[in-house]
Parts: sequence; structure tokens; C-alpha cells
Amino acid sequence: TEQDLERRFQARVDAEEKIEPKDWMPAAYRKTLIRQISQHAHSEVVGMQPEGNWITRAPSLRRKAVLLAKVQDEAGHGLYLYSAAETLGTTREELVEALHRGKAKYSSIFNYPTLTWADIGAVGWLVDGAAIINQVALQRTSYGPYARAMIRICKEESFHQRQGYEIMLALAKGSAQQKAMAQDALNRFWWPSLMMFGPNDDESPNSAQSMKWKIKRKSNDQLRQEFVDQTVPQIEVLGLELPDPKLRWNEARGHYDFGAIDWEEFYRVIKGNGPCNRQRLQHHIKAERDGDWVREAMRAYEDKRRGREAA
Ligand code: 3HC
Repeated sequence: TEQDLERRFQARVDAEEKIEPKDWMPAAYRKTLIRQISQHAHSEVVGMQPEGNWITRAPSLRRKAVLLAKVQDEAGHGLYLYSAAETLGTTREELVEALHRGKAKYSSIFNYPTLTWADIGAVGWLVDGAAIINQVALQRTSYGPYARAMIRICKEESFHQRQGYEIMLALAKGSAQQKAMAQDALNRFWWPSLMMFGPNDDESPNSAQSMKWKIKRKSNDQLRQEFVDQTVPQIEVLGLELPDPKLRWNEARGHYDFGAIDWEEFYRVIKGNGPCNRQRLQHHIKAERDGDWVREAMRAYEDKRRGREAA
């Protein structure tokens, strides 16, 4: 019966077995994985926009080459994750269609503008820093293709974070104006980076089930706390002011305490009313349409090749 199948499935998950595409899985497990993996892929692709915005304006050839390499990596991560989602019986076209119809999300953080070059440092350091903490945990997710995608992606992400931190270090140790730019970028990206980890655990509708199915291995609040504990010492090395007056080490807890997150802002942004939501989606829709001729050419070529083979 269905109950027996579900029981056997849960026993496999509890025994830390990897679930593979051809294995039986509850429909709801498949559904939530398509939701999460596709939104992860959308995040990687949309995340190319704020950084891409500065490729032509990087302050040196080296910075330009490094940023170009990072943005190309994000594209690859996106395509890798769409392939992982396709193993669950969906198609890339469906996933992109859902994004364009506002039915699928991408990470809130990419709805904030990159106003100065220091923002590119803050994005690499804070956003990729947060993404790495989330993705390292996801290397142990119960669905095989997703876990393997994470292992590969995490290898590339550490360079992303290091190049961002190096930009921040150069600015923070530079002129007064450069240090002020770095401080401004930290102030604007700090809270949105904390929001990347999702709502508090008791406000998170998907967490309980995702933890039971070991899709999620650490909770939103656990990962957020790890990020804060790792990043505050880095702010001190930069010699910048803490972006939250309530940030302070709590010896008893062995963690940093920090102030309240503005969840109003979070829900406003994920509902589509953040600073750049409309432009990010319009840009993605246009890029997709501009690429139609490439997909048509590939299909025509494939048909011809098949035709030749059949003949
Ligand atoms: N941005 C947008 N939506 C968010 C969000 C965020 N930062 N945090 C949570 N949400 C959404 C969830 O998707 C969910 O909505 P849905 O049911 O329509 O999908 C709702 O808010 C409630 O959140 P939950 O905590 O209940 O949802 P999850 O259990 O899915 O947890 C998550 C949210 C922690 C983001 C989880 O989905 C996850 O770990 N996803 C994979 C990681 C990911 O997407 N990372 C993108 C980071 S950016 C990146 O990787 C690019 C980097 O290389 C720069």
C-alpha cells in the first residue's frame, strides 16, 4: 500500500540512503524538491544581473576578468541545478515559465541594486558567504542529484567569496572615500544577507517536512547564526563598523546575539515589491526571448542530424 511505500521511503532517508531519480518517492517529496531546486537555479541565473552590471565598469583588467569568471560560474551553477531538477520529471521550459509568471521565486537578495563597486565586494563576501553556508549543508541533502550538484558547486563558490572579501579589504584599507564606500555597501547588504536564510524556523512552513525528509539538514536559524558567527570577525579585520548595534558576542550561548530582522521588508521583497524585482524579471524575460533563435537552431540541427541517421 501507499503507507508501506512511505514507511519504507522514510526508513531509507533515516538510514542516510541517497534517494535517486528512479527510486519510489512520495509525490510531495518530488514536488518540494522541484520547488527548491528550481528556485535555487533561478537564483543563480538572476544573480548574474547585479554582478554583470559592473563587468564593464570594473576598476582594473584583473578585477574585470575575475568578475567575468564568477558570473560565468553562476550561469553554470544554474544550468547544473536545472538539470538536477529535470531528473524529477519536469522540463527547463516549465521551470522558466513558472519564474516568468511569478509562480517561482529566486533569492530575495538579488532584488537589491549594486550601486557602487564596493557592492560587488559585499555581494561576493556576504551573499556568496551566506550561499556557501547554505550549500555546504545541502551537500548532505537526501536527494542524490541535488547533493552531488552541491558538492561540485561548493568547490567553485569559495573563490567567489574570497575575491569579494579581497575587494572589501582593498577598499577598507584604502582612502577615506574608499573605506566609506565599503562601509556603505556593508550597511546596505548586511540585513538582506541575513534574510537569504529564510524566515525564522517557527515561521517557516516548509522546514519541518524538509527536515524530516533530510532535504534540509540545518534549519534557517541555525544557518543564519553560523553566518553571523563567521562574518562578524571578518568585519573586525576590515576595520569597519558593525552594521547592527545589537551585534555582540554572548559567552553563555557561544554565539553572537544580533538585532531583529525586518520581516516586513523580507515579505515585501519576496512578494515582488523589492527595489529591483520588476527589472530583474523583465531582463530575464528579454534574455530568454533573445535566445529563442539559438534554441530553434539547435532543434533544427538535431532534427536534421536525426533525419540523416534514420536515412
Ligand atoms: N528569497 C526568496 N524566497 C525565500 C527566501 C529568500 N531568501 N527564503 C525563503 N523563501 C521562500 C521559500 O521559498 C518559501 O516559499 P515557497 O514555498 O513558495 O518556495 C517561503 O519563503 C517560506 O520559506 P521556507 O523556509 O518555509 O522555505 P524552504 O524550506 O524552501 O527554505 C531556503 C528556504 C532556505 C531558501 C531553501 O529553499 C534553500 O535552502 N534553498 C536552496 C538555497 C538557495 O536557493 N540559495 C540561493 C542563494 S543565492 C545563490 O545560491 C547564488 C550564489 O552563488 C551567489
